[in-house]
Amino acid sequence: MIHLPKEAYTSAEWFDREQQTLFANQWQFLGFSEDLAKPGCYMTHQVGPYNLFVVKGRDHRLRAFHNICRHRGTQLLRATGKAEKTITCPYHDWTYSLNGELIGVPRQAEEFPNLDREKFCLFKASIETWLGMIWVHPDPNATPLPQWLQGVDHTIGPHRPEELVEYADGATDHVINANWKIVAENYIDGYHLAHLHSQTLTMYDHDRQQTGFVGPHFWFYEPLTDDYAANLKKQAPAPVIDHFTEAMPIGAYVPLLFPNLGITATESTWTIFHIIPMAADKTRVVTRTKLKPASDWEYSKQVMRSVSAFTGKKPKYADGDAEDPMASGDVMAEDIYVCEAQQRGMASPLYQIGALAAVQEASVAGFQKRVEEAMRAEVKPPAAWEV
Ligand SMILES: [Fe+2]
Repeated sequence: MIHLPKEAYTSAEWFDREQQTLFANQWQFLGFSEDLAKPGCYMTHQVGPYNLFVVKGRDHRLRAFHNICRHRGTQLLRATGKAEKTITCPYHDWTYSLNGELIGVPRQAEEFPNLDREKFCLFKASIETWLGMIWVHPDPNATPLPQWLQGVDHTIGPHRPEELVEYADGATDHVINANWKIVAENYIDGYHLAHLHSQTLTMYDHDRQQTGFVGPHFWFYEPLTDDYAANLKKQAPAPVIDHFTEAMPIGAYVPLLFPNLGITATESTWTIFHIIPMAADKTRVVTRTKLKPASDWEYSKQVMRSVSAFTGKKPKYADGDAEDPMASGDVMAEDIYVCEAQQRGMASPLYQIGALAAVQEASVAGFQKRVEEAMRAEVKPPAAWEV
């Protein structure tokens, strides 16, 4: 059964409704703990209609707030940065401590000698840290994150990302001309792996993939191919991670934590795939990769080995010119190409999903069902939050 109509991917009205319902009531990934290493470091993130920020206090605690001044509601902070000891609104210089308390109002002493500052603290939001990832939720008393993610621990791989280190050169940031759900559906679709990526994802045994849902969250596992497993030390693109167990053996774990955080946890890499909706037909995807700590020498030795092991493999359309994403030999470029092609296909009045999709892409139907349910779920407006 197909759950979402074409408008879900093309209409601005649908996009806005999704932001006000599904995303307004959601835990969202913000960044890694190490992004906010020092007091004053902050990061902002849009969660549905709410702009939130997390800042590290002078006591080294992380706190989350709504990014609006209590005077005229002006947005306080931009993107990412380091506040000094306080947060000051650019408009009228109202100043807050890193704990969110109002500490300075220009000309207050003359005009408002009895101002009750307690009433003008920043609005709090919820924050939790899990596996070295910082998460935020607009509601200051949101369902705790562990409850929201109940059961996923057994499906996302045995990796301990807090013990891995970020490979800064491995980060990517793309704007894709497609709806965020097309990107998410492509991410969880196991059918295309052996086809679109027939020459680029040759390390994994796609015929032995296993998938399912835990609550709203999707999980996916596939083992290494026998050939790759036998030559792992030589062929792995980075030093092999040694976190695997009998219960969670080596392979690729590729969950999508509902609705928009993918994780790709493999034999040698741990990557977040953050799908950020921008407009009905525009999505930003940020990836960040962590690797097993290794010396530069050990690392480059591994890359050289892996490159020489893979030399001779050809991209899907090897005859294409250098600009052709399908000739790039790059998994991400291949996926972006088909996501945008899928969005373009939707412009045709003849666009439809074939009957076989319900079977071949059952995970996509499962995701759509969960999106539809989340849009129908009750969303507590701020007036109903227990502050
Ligand atoms: Fe793909």
